[in-house]
Amino acid sequence: MSKSKPLRLAILISGHGSNLQAIMDAIANDKLNAEIILVVSNREAAFGLQRAQLAGLPALILLAKDYPNKTAYDTVLAQKIAALKPDLIVLAGFMRILTAEFVHHFAGQIINIHPSLLPKYRGLHTHEQVLANHDTHHGCSIHFVTPELDAGPLIAQAKFTLTQDDTLATITAKVHQLEHALYPFVLQQFAEQHLSLTAEGVLYKQQLLPSSGLSLPCSS
Ligand code: GRF
Repeated sequence: MSKSKPLRLAILISGHGSNLQAIMDAIANDKLNAEIILVVSNREAAFGLQRAQLAGLPALILLAKDYPNKTAYDTVLAQKIAALKPDLIVLAGFMRILTAEFVHHFAGQIINIHPSLLPKYRGLHTHEQVLANHDTHHGCSIHFVTPELDAGPLIAQAKFTLTQDDTLATITAKVHQLEHALYPFVLQQFAEQHLSLTAEGVLYKQQLLPSSGLSLPCSS
């Protein structure tokens, strides 16, 4: 792995934190040249906070009830994060919609993972919609965050073919498994300075990506 400067990550969570764990594991296993400089949760009970604590990572809890409105919350969030000068803000199951001001402040520096093959199924309950619509494929997407929910330029996707036996539980597990491979891979591409957002779209190794972004298999 390249020994250039580690990518500085601020990771925002709300819940289980399995993607956070996958990123922590990739760093520990020398698959990802990064350091997690801050974990932020908007929920006290987020299990991901325990993962951060166990690993000795700096963590911050910001509760919506302590702020008069979204702008006030995001202003403090932006200050706390900016003070640490991250390279990337990584949304990993962060269940809040960021204000346009926040997104513009960190333009091209915020990425999100979403459990569907965007542009299909923005928002919640993606797995249920895949089953209800009898889709043949499902997967996950990583994209740059723009003010419009789950609509920013795609960086990468990973997908699988559904089988007759698939249920809500099996496809949820399959998507998670793909997410845990895709996020570390994409972050390593950032660490190697292969990825950036330009006015024309997402650049990867000096070339504009197609609108669906990179796709797995990506274990190399
Ligand atoms: C993931 O499925 C991600 O796609 C979505 O929220 C979930 C977070 O899972 N945005 P975890 O908290 O990382 O386990």
